[in-house]
Amino acid sequence: MLADLRDLAGACAAERTGLGAFNVVHLDHAEVFAAAAERAGRPVVLQVSQNAVAYHGALAPIGTGVLAVARAAEVPVVVHLDHAEDVALVREAIALGFTSVMYDGSRLADEANRATTAEVVAQAHAAGVSVEAELGEVGGKNGVHDPSARTDPAAAARFVRDTGVDLLAVAVGSSHAMTTRGARLDTDLIAAIAAAVDVPLVLHGSSGVSDAGMRAAIDAGMTKINVSTHLNKLFTTAVRGYLTEHPDLVDTRTWFGTGNAEIGREVERLLRWYARTEPVAAGGGAPSAAAGRA
Ligand code: G3H
Ligand code: ZN
Repeated sequence: MLADLRDLAGACAAERTGLGAFNVVHLDHAEVFAAAAERAGRPVVLQVSQNAVAYHGALAPIGTGVLAVARAAEVPVVVHLDHAEDVALVREAIALGFTSVMYDGSRLADEANRATTAEVVAQAHAAGVSVEAELGEVGGKNGVHDPSARTDPAAAARFVRDTGVDLLAVAVGSSHAMTTRGARLDTDLIAAIAAAVDVPLVLHGSSGVSDAGMRAAIDAGMTKINVSTHLNKLFTTAVRGYLTEHPDLVDTRTWFGTGNAEIGREVERLLRWYARTEPVAAGGGAPSAAAGRA
């Protein structure tokens, strides 16, 4: 069923579990992630980014499909607009029925980020929609990796108070679009920010974080865990192997199905791991600077 992000994230934060948030680029992703969440018995966030909307050329076709998947699911599913820098797109998502939006003003100067975020919050809350915002830009959005960005706890508390956001994305050592899982998170900083603000925290660029690192981040107070590149890498690797082994295939459902099965298993495993019901798996390696966009 379609669910509210503020409620779900608040419940997860209170019990110190992670809420998995996975990027939907193709409609298959929504179907696969919702089914994985049902198998894991966990809520999930299906998120469509502004970049994914640009890929499709419009929000409505993919957004409507994701909403239909969410409404049919047997577990709570949030439909979230991810990394929206365009306020008009935020309004469109709210009108379409998304239950949550991320307004990403992290590239703006502080005052402009604060003012626009507060405006978005007023509009979203009037429609009963949750808002996530970002303070301290998490690197890697355009292929430029900077894991050194950090969010100041006092500035985070001020930002949340001034804007009224429901969740806050923070910079604590991750970077977007990493293809190996060696990012080192600053768990002391996560704990300090969690103590300073009264809203759940969001980790972007979680593909670069190992299973053990993710568990430590959740223990320290991280709640919404955004993952995209890790799943794209698994999907593409599986499909590349399958097509190489079966060079005569033409039906797209055959090889798409192979990739979908691979990421479905991984999303189920991650959801159980964030909820502390699965043993740790191997992970790690050095950070990579591979470019990619959710
Ligand atoms: O907003 C989406 C995420 O932050 C995904 O980042 O592709 O590095 O996992 P990622
Ligand atoms: Zn992100």
